[in-house]
Amino acid sequence: MGKKNNASGFRPKASPIKYNRVSPTTTPPTPNGGAKSSPRLMPILIGGGLLYITATYVSMSVFKSKSDTTTGRTHDHSSHDTPVDGNFDTAPVWEKIAKDYDKEIDWDEFVMGIGLMRRWLIGQAKGDVLEVSTGTGRNFKYYKDDQLSSATFTDRNEGMLTQAKSKFAEYAGQFKKTFVEFKQANVDHVHTLTKEDNNGRRHQQQFDTVVDTFGLCSCKDPEQALISLADACKPSEESRILLLEHGRSHYDWLNRILDTNVDKHVRRWGCWWNRDLMELFEREKVKEKLEIVKVYRWHLGTTCYIVAKPKTSSS
Ligand SMILES: C[S@@+](CC[C@H](N)C(=O)[O-])C[C@H]1O[C@@H](n2cnc3c(N)ncnc32)[C@H](O)[C@@H]1O
Repeated sequence: MGKKNNASGFRPKASPIKYNRVSPTTTPPTPNGGAKSSPRLMPILIGGGLLYITATYVSMSVFKSKSDTTTGRTHDHSSHDTPVDGNFDTAPVWEKIAKDYDKEIDWDEFVMGIGLMRRWLIGQAKGDVLEVSTGTGRNFKYYKDDQLSSATFTDRNEGMLTQAKSKFAEYAGQFKKTFVEFKQANVDHVHTLTKEDNNGRRHQQQFDTVVDTFGLCSCKDPEQALISLADACKPSEESRILLLEHGRSHYDWLNRILDTNVDKHVRRWGCWWNRDLMELFEREKVKEKLEIVKVYRWHLGTTCYIVAKPKTSSS
């Protein structure tokens, strides 16, 4: 294992990968007067499961990086291997992969337990909900109609939003009382979305819950994205920003793999998989706007489940 990376100032409150350190000098009393007890099955099964998921994730990362190198050019919209810089436009990448996106990532998400994380996160959405970078609508099935008033699904790229709209037909019955709309919008500007009132006047649309799953890795400016998410919230202690994202690991050896292959990954998947997500929340402009309520990290720290809330005048 590589050295632990302590560069990020933020420490997650809890993580399922963590374990309790056992003091070498203390021997716990045994309930049967010292006779050796057999190892308990549950921790072994859970530990084995986590190890399996972690190992699978790492192998997938490495495998995908290699396949990007060898086959990525068929999907590559730029014909040369110039470094990907801040001006790289991923729109053509998303337009190209939109139709096959679900097929390509279904298995990865299943193996990594992402569906369960989505269910856990999205189940908390309530009131007026904004989802940014909706993609093909992989969260639809996890929303709870009885908790929602409205749901506004947005994405910058038309191809992805088209997939989401056609997938929504499957789930329309699930949104019986929720008013649902789709809007093409860049995450950087979702705080400027407007809606019409009964008198025909337009007002800024504000939300109780803002959702972004695997969007911060894909947009050009994740700092601006977070600020915009906070500004799109109703100024209330109850408002929540629900994030499920991926980025840098706790471990340098894995970060080196992510760094080495990031250009190919961006060209193939429109995704900067080596971003330091927790560091974003330490930036002054972001700290001014929102605060973290909860964080959990999985898959060696690369998958981040974050619940945040906008800063209000009272907070
Ligand atoms: C990795 S996909 C995630 C899709 C979906 N949220 C999910 O969980 O499956 C990233 C999405 O971000 C969208 N995207 C990229 N840049 C964006 C931007 N600046 N504003 C809004 N959406 C953007 C892409 O079109 C794509 O649908």
